[in-house]
Amino acid sequence: MKRIAVNGFGTIGKRLADAVDAQPDMEVSGVTKTRPNYEADLAVERGYDLYAATEAGLEGLGDMAEGSVEELLVESDLVFDCSPTGIGARNRGLYEDAGIAAVYQGGEPHDVAGFSFNAAVNFDEAVGRDAARVVSCNTTGLCRSLFPLVEAFGVGDVSVTLVRRGGDPKQTDRGPINAIVPSLGIPSHHGPDVAKVIPGLDVHSMAVKVPTTLMHLHAVSLQLESRASRSDVLDVWETAPRVMQVDGGRGIGSTAELCELGRDMLRPRYDLWELALWKDSVTVEGDRLSFFQGVHQESIVVPENIDAARALLEMADSEYSTRTTDDALGVIR
Ligand SMILES: NC(=O)c1ccc[n+]([C@@H]2O[C@H](COP(=O)([O-])OP(=O)(O)OC[C@H]3O[C@@H](n4cnc5c(N)ncnc54)[C@H](OP(=O)(O)O)[C@@H]3O)[C@@H](O)[C@H]2O)c1
Repeated sequence: MKRIAVNGFGTIGKRLADAVDAQPDMEVSGVTKTRPNYEADLAVERGYDLYAATEAGLEGLGDMAEGSVEELLVESDLVFDCSPTGIGARNRGLYEDAGIAAVYQGGEPHDVAGFSFNAAVNFDEAVGRDAARVVSCNTTGLCRSLFPLVEAFGVGDVSVTLVRRGGDPKQTDRGPINAIVPSLGIPSHHGPDVAKVIPGLDVHSMAVKVPTTLMHLHAVSLQLESRASRSDVLDVWETAPRVMQVDGGRGIGSTAELCELGRDMLRPRYDLWELALWKDSVTVEGDRLSFFQGVHQESIVVPENIDAARALLEMADSEYSTRTTDDALGVIR
């Protein structure tokens, strides 16, 4: 049983703690907070040992805390760094000092681990490494749909427009409230980030931010290098890991209905770990394939993190890890 620490118990951290708890071969050694808020209460209620992420946190958490993050790390085999964007890189020294493996999140730069991870693409290259960075929610979604096409047909240029949620549901300080905000730096960082995982793939990305909190939506258009029909493409995605084909004709025509689907499936926190791909949008014209896909930003990276831990700790091969993760969570195959 491997012992996994979760440093930062926010949007991603609390989901990862619950995902670790659900696995048969790992357990939560502890989670950290910097302050005694409702999430700290939740951690204790769920039975996770709570540690202080910072020195000030140790004082603020008082009796709630079992100790410092340093004390947690020495009792752990691996840490998920789930601290706010940019803090992970600053935490790296802590993990190196403790001599344990670390999995960082997509808000950190590639250099934090020198290796960007997606389970379907490069699990084997992660085996035995000290550190990996699970790419962002948007990049994970793009890797899930694009890599199976690269393998099946070859892919030339890819053009993606990302319609990004303004903030997560709990982020009262994020916006916009009444605007569509283009990211004026073109390409956006997402295309180059995909190439960190799938080297050589030419992805041109542009992004806009809109007043919604539920999900991201991607409009994708790409060149297929060998001839394929619409049904050939759908067949490839049918067996692709963690890809769920959804049907506008059956009433799932928007990100709102996708989230309602998560509620109706009785998913924890209405999480959709799968990439949602609108099959009615899939169109092939000559060698050009176009489609829409939806990304639940708060949860899509959860299965990839669990697989990254198994790879770094040399616990399993890719196939076993993916199956175990998905069965434990209830990911649709
Ligand atoms: N949210 C998403 O949609 C999403 C999707 C994919 C990837 N990511 C990435 O995942 C990472 C975490 O994002 P998030 O959305 O989970 O952020 P979040 O909800 O703000 O959670 C971050 C947590 O880190 C804690 N924290 C603050 N300072 C810390 C420190 N020095 N050391 C350890 N923990 C500290 C905070 O705890 P306190 O409240 O106690 O201060 C907070 O609970 C980022 O790299 C982000 O880019 C986020």
